[in-house]
Amino acid sequence: MKVLVSDPVSQAGVDILRQEFTVDVRAKLSAEELLRVIPDYDALVVRSETKVTKAVIEAAVNLKIIGRAGVGVDNIDVEAATQKGIIVVNAPEGNTVAATEHTMAMMLALARNVPQAHASMKQKEWQRGKFIGVEMRGKVLGILGLGRIGTGVAKRALAMEMDVIAYDPFIGTGHAKALGIELAETEEIFSKADFITLHLPLTPETRNLINRDTFARMKKGVRIINCARGGIINEADLTEAIKAGIVAGAAIDVFGKEPVEPDNPLLTVDRVVLTPHLGASTAEAQVGVAVDVARGIAAALRGEPVATA
Ligand code: NAD
Ligand code: MLT
Repeated sequence: MKVLVSDPVSQAGVDILRQEFTVDVRAKLSAEELLRVIPDYDALVVRSETKVTKAVIEAAVNLKIIGRAGVGVDNIDVEAATQKGIIVVNAPEGNTVAATEHTMAMMLALARNVPQAHASMKQKEWQRGKFIGVEMRGKVLGILGLGRIGTGVAKRALAMEMDVIAYDPFIGTGHAKALGIELAETEEIFSKADFITLHLPLTPETRNLINRDTFARMKKGVRIINCARGGIINEADLTEAIKAGIVAGAAIDVFGKEPVEPDNPLLTVDRVVLTPHLGASTAEAQVGVAVDVARGIAAALRGEPVATA
């Protein structure tokens, strides 16, 4: 059987697949090239760059399984795959710690103006008065999405003595109670939170969830962190809210269009901390997700049961 790996994934995952299958690693295929080659393959491994559209799935006459070396499957048309009997698996846990820690790094960098101060020093400046930050202790952190990463962020925020509230319609109060935090409705989070961090999937329901109307209902001076998915926040509206002083700053790892284009409005404001989708980019996480997804694919191609995304 043949496996196509169409995005860069750790060699550890490729090695597992090569023990049993023929594996071609071909990153940066254009959409047309992917359509042309996909009929040859029984399995496809992607990260987030490859878009597995309905057209790709229709052209994939031999495909049995698509593996996503990460959590979000929003770059895969799961419905089209399911209709065609193609299994979609992901690696839901391998990058949880990496994304959790990146969220904390972004929150702290935002609170203390770390990138701006660093850039200033590189300009040979010494501006101690310009970069006064805020403390996390005693601040209200609102978490939208209390899954794996949201939970990891809650635990770390509690250790920093923040007051944590979270909204997740699919999580019971027992989980929140065990963590030592309160569940709240979105309106309560918008009105109380000093920091809001997003940890939910991009779905038709969550697309554009944070927009001009929701910013208008937030506490003035709120800081926003998004290490979940671009598209959940309306970037033009966020830029306006920063300019209007409603939002004191934002730390953003994920964007509506990636790679970010030069006309992205967030590039025009100073009070932002931006990283190029680095949430899962640790050595440990990249091995973790590649190994998990390779094991899932190998099991499925052997005809063994696997957990679908
Ligand atoms: P998860 O599935 O464990 O948690 C997601 C949570 O969101 C679930 O508890 C679910 O109930 C909740 N949810 C779903 N719809 C919701 C809604 N409308 N309102 C509130 N909550 C809702 O996933 P996770 O591993 O915690 O990942 C969270 C997000 O982070 C995903 O979007 C994932 O793709 C993204 N992610 C990004 C990076 C990165 O590199 N920046 C790395 C890993 C994961
Ligand atoms: C994920 O959903 O797992 C992340 O966005 C990480 C990635 O794309 O590598």
